[in-house]
Amino acid sequence: MKRLSVASAPAKVILFGEHFVVYNKPAIVMAINMRAYAKSKPEESQKIIIESKSMNISGAFTISGDYQPIIGGFEGKEKLLPIYVAIKSILERAGEERGVRVEIDSTIPVAAGLGSSAAVSVASAAAVSSLLELNISREDIFMAALEAERIVHENPSGVDPAISTYGGLIVYRKGDGIRRLSVDARLPLVVGDTGIKRVTGEMVLLVGEMRRRYPLVVDRIMDSGEAIVDVGVEALRRGDLKTIGDLMNINHALLCALGLSNETIERLIHAARRAGAFGAKLTGAGGGGCMIALSPPDRINYVVRAIENAGGRAFITDISLEGVRVEVQQPNSA
Ligand code: PMV
Repeated sequence: MKRLSVASAPAKVILFGEHFVVYNKPAIVMAINMRAYAKSKPEESQKIIIESKSMNISGAFTISGDYQPIIGGFEGKEKLLPIYVAIKSILERAGEERGVRVEIDSTIPVAAGLGSSAAVSVASAAAVSSLLELNISREDIFMAALEAERIVHENPSGVDPAISTYGGLIVYRKGDGIRRLSVDARLPLVVGDTGIKRVTGEMVLLVGEMRRRYPLVVDRIMDSGEAIVDVGVEALRRGDLKTIGDLMNINHALLCALGLSNETIERLIHAARRAGAFGAKLTGAGGGGCMIALSPPDRINYVVRAIENAGGRAFITDISLEGVRVEVQQPNSA
């Protein structure tokens, strides 16, 4: 066993197909250059101790899942539970019953549609498997993080843990695994955060309810979502930013039709389009969180400013080709 191991995993944006991916439709998703870090160390007690710097909570789980808070009281349990589930799944896969201490450090905004919870679970699972020098594959890390996502919401498609594990730009379909895409262009994306936190599970339930009430209508919306992905794959291959932008606008309209947008998101999206973006849409579960805009390179600063003037927090992002990775440690670092 090592004395220390650090791993990291990227955040993501969904270009096309969020929500429809829960219903076995494909989605196109891109890892972005913003990462969650997990540092793991051996722990004498047989406990799994998790500390989150960014959320300012920490607590200890026994192997059977009992929780003792250290910082942040019992409310902290709900936030740390998915991380515990991912770590425990790794220990179980390797037939190990050991204590570990994991420190999370992430600057990915939470509950914003950027896949923060999956990135943290993926990084934690990788840090622990590297610490214990376990023979764990990327697929195992993905499966461990998928178990953790089931705590976050009942019926996850797996798109978040998949992109955080594998990185790059992928087409994802539940049960089919991933298909890598290469793009013949830079994808100058601006992310705009509304600052409104929302619960992914509640937004997923909302779509489920719409589908139950209007199955004929909603199934056709989802079929259109699938067509967007098909046309989108080709447009991405060609690096045809204009078509990608158009498809983003259409995809956003479909999400709007299902009640997933709101006034704040719309304000940011319209500001981005007015500033010259090829297209803009909400990304992730909707109801708040983030939107993305694809901009001509020479307009990108206007788009950032327009989103900020409309009340959002905007930043430019780029693809992260690397998924989960174990960080190289300096010999004396601890
Ligand atoms: O993690 P979020 O909030 O970006 O949403 C994940 C994407 C959904 O399609 C809404 C849910 C899922 O499990 O795929």
